[in-house]
This record gives sequence, structure tokens and C-alpha cells, in this order.
Amino acid sequence: MRAAARVQAGIEILDRIIQTSAPADAELRDYFRPRRYAGGGDRRAVGGMVYDVLRQWHELVWRLGETPVTGRALMRAHLADDGELDTLFAGDAHGPAPLDAAEQAAPPRPRDGAPEWARANVPEWLWPEFEARFGAEVCAELDALNQRAPTDLRVNRLKADRDGVLRRLGKDGIEAAASAVTPDGIRLTGHPALSDHSLYREGRIEVQDEGSQIAAALVEATPRGQVVDLCAGAGGKTLALAATMENKGQIHAFDIHAGRLDRLRLRVQRAGVRNVQAHRLAAEAPVPEDLSHRMARVLIDAPCSGVGTWRRQPEGRVRLTPTALADHAAAQRGLLAKGAGFAGPGGRVIYVVCSPLASEGEDVVAAFLAERADFHALPVAEVWANVLAGEAPGAGPYLMLTPAANGTDGFFVAILERDA
Ligand SMILES: C[S@@+](CC[C@H](N)C(=O)[O-])C[C@H]1O[C@@H](n2cnc3c(N)ncnc32)[C@H](O)[C@@H]1O
Repeated sequence: MRAAARVQAGIEILDRIIQTSAPADAELRDYFRPRRYAGGGDRRAVGGMVYDVLRQWHELVWRLGETPVTGRALMRAHLADDGELDTLFAGDAHGPAPLDAAEQAAPPRPRDGAPEWARANVPEWLWPEFEARFGAEVCAELDALNQRAPTDLRVNRLKADRDGVLRRLGKDGIEAAASAVTPDGIRLTGHPALSDHSLYREGRIEVQDEGSQIAAALVEATPRGQVVDLCAGAGGKTLALAATMENKGQIHAFDIHAGRLDRLRLRVQRAGVRNVQAHRLAAEAPVPEDLSHRMARVLIDAPCSGVGTWRRQPEGRVRLTPTALADHAAAQRGLLAKGAGFAGPGGRVIYVVCSPLASEGEDVVAAFLAERADFHALPVAEVWANVLAGEAPGAGPYLMLTPAANGTDGFFVAILERDA
């Protein structure tokens, strides 16, 4: 594909991202599936351009001023400063049409004047919440949240040990290092595709952000324990819990989404896990009677804005709305109340969101504790000392992980213990 054709492909993919709710990487795959003429270099170049736009989205939108946000407008603003706009928008076969009179009359504003929220690539309405959370560090934190994330692995200790996996990766020329915090974590230097690697196919490793591994470790699930994973999804944390529990005890994995539970079952098989029962549980369904007030641990990895994963899914920063955020907070409160119904005397509810926003973290927990005097927050540092290396970051009762401070996705974790 010529350069202009790549730009046009980027424009069409951006239009799809604007119009649908599918992840950006899925839109890229779908776009190229019927276009066999595009080679690997074309796909990488177009993907790079699309992700470049996603990582500057709010600044580009600000620069466009009153111009409606389309793939073409975004690409025009993205390429405005590199001197080749007229060559690329020249009306070549398969390339974008030349700039029309209206476009020529309204060039993008210079980026120098962009406000802080735009430069940080977050929606204007969310800026106050980020400022309140991060204070003087807000720009550094949001800059880190706008970079590409590393690839982290979790060694499945039911089938492998970390030193052996590191040796194998080294032999295959994959640069990697053990995590200093999590017992089974490995961070890769680059981003090699591992889905065809035998370590992955045989269930010896899972791809899992270190923050997610930390959250799972803080459940402090023990062999023979009874655990509920209320929002198990495709099972990222379920598998980590099963390994910590040495395949003993019982994990009751629930989700409202049957398709995700199907994926969980496949992963459970691959990982050699035998202590998981997965069941669909409708949002409005009560706590099953046989599990009511019996669990030692209840993990609630609640659905959320996903702000903490914006490094991996930058399209999230385009799609989040104030209404969606308020809906998440309402659902999170409901889930915390429901999850508490599983906890036995002395049991713990571990509330997790991959978001640094207080409205999905502390505020949800505060509302819960105000209603449930029989629960108290167990300081995260106390549990950290039992299950993870080094010191827990931060001094408060809850855990906040961020890309800038911890090199992980953004996570909030609260451990809420029921009176014995
Ligand atoms: C953050 S994701 C879970 C990720 C998963 N725990 C992991 O580590 O891979 C949140 C999940 O909550 C599920 N969910 C949403 N509302 C729910 C509800 N009321 N009850 C149970 N699960 C729910 C969603 O379908 C989604 O799979």
C-alpha cells in the first residue's frame, strides 16, 4: 500500500472506532481480514497511525475546534504538522480526497495552546477528578497512562516454575525478568506474540498485568478455602487464585456473561485447574442459598470505567461518558452489597477496580462501610506482607496502583473483613 492508501485505511478504521464499541485492535483485525493485499508492514504502519491518534485523541479534538470529529478530521489534525499533508491528501487512487475549501479555511489550532486536559489526553469533564486524585503528579501520572504497557506473564505454578520459564524464554531469545513484587510474575522487555508459544499453549504461562496479579494475591486465598469470584469474566484472576490454592478448596466463579465463562472454562482446562466451578449468575439473582454467608473470601473484580487500563485500550478514553461512569458506580455499590452476602463470619470481601477514580474506589467502599457496621477495612499493608515482596505502596488502608508509581495498570483494592 502507498503512504496515502495507508492514511485512508487509518481514516476508515478511526471512523469505525468512533461508531462502534468494539476494541480498537478488533476493529483493526476486522478491517484487514478481507483486504488480503495488505502485508504485515502495511498493517503495522496503519495500526501505528491509529494508535498514535488514540494516544492524542483529546488534544486532536481540541485542535479541531468546531469541526465535527471524524476519522478524516482526526487524521488531518494528526498529520497537520509534518509537512506532508498536501501530498497525502492529494486525491490519489485509494488515498484521501484533497482538502476542500472548508478544511483549508479551518486548519487545526496549534498544539501549543492546548489546555492541560487535552495535552494529557483525557476528557475535559474528568480532569478535576484526576487532579483531585494525583495533585502535583497529575501530568506525570497521565503521561504514564498514555504510554504503551509492557507485557507481563504469570507463571502457572500448577504446571511450571518461574526459573524454568525464564530459562526457556531466554533460550528462545525472549528477554524477560522476574517481578520483584509478585511470586509468579515475569515482565518481558519487548512485545513478542506468545499465543503460539508452547509455554502458553500448554498452560504454563498466562499473560496478566502485574497489577492484576497483585490484586489476586491480596485475596490471600488459602488451599482448602472456600472462595467466590463474583465477577470472574474470562478468569484472569480465577486462574491466579486456583494456583495460589494449589488446586485445592473450591472457587465458585460467577459472571453475568455466559460467553466469558465459556472462555474461562477453556483456560481452566489449559491451566490444569480442577478447583473451579463456573456458573452464570444474573445481575438480579440473589446469593445462592448454599453459598450464603459461608465464604472465606469473596473477590469482586467489579466492572468499571477501565481507566486504569487505558495504556492497553486507549479507545476507552474516547468512549467514557459521565453517564457511564455514574452507572458503573451504581453497579459497583450493588455488587459490593451482593458480594457481602457470600462472606462468612471473619470472611473477607476484596473489592477491586482497574480504575484510579475515587468515584469507583473509595467512594463506593465508604458508602458500603457506612451501611455495614459488621465490616471493617483491613489495611492492605497487613495482607501484602504475607503474600507479596517488599513494602505495600502508600500508607492508607486501601491500595492504589498506577503506571507511573508502580509500573502496573491502574488498580484500586480494598480488603473488607466481616466481624467474626
Ligand atoms: C473487570 S471484569 C472481570 C475480569 C476478570 N475478573 C479477570 O480477572 O479477568 C468485570 C466482569 O464483571 C461482570 N459483571 C458485570 N456485572 C455483573 C454482575 N452483576 N454480576 C456478576 N458479574 C458481573 C462482567 O461481565 C465482566 O466480565
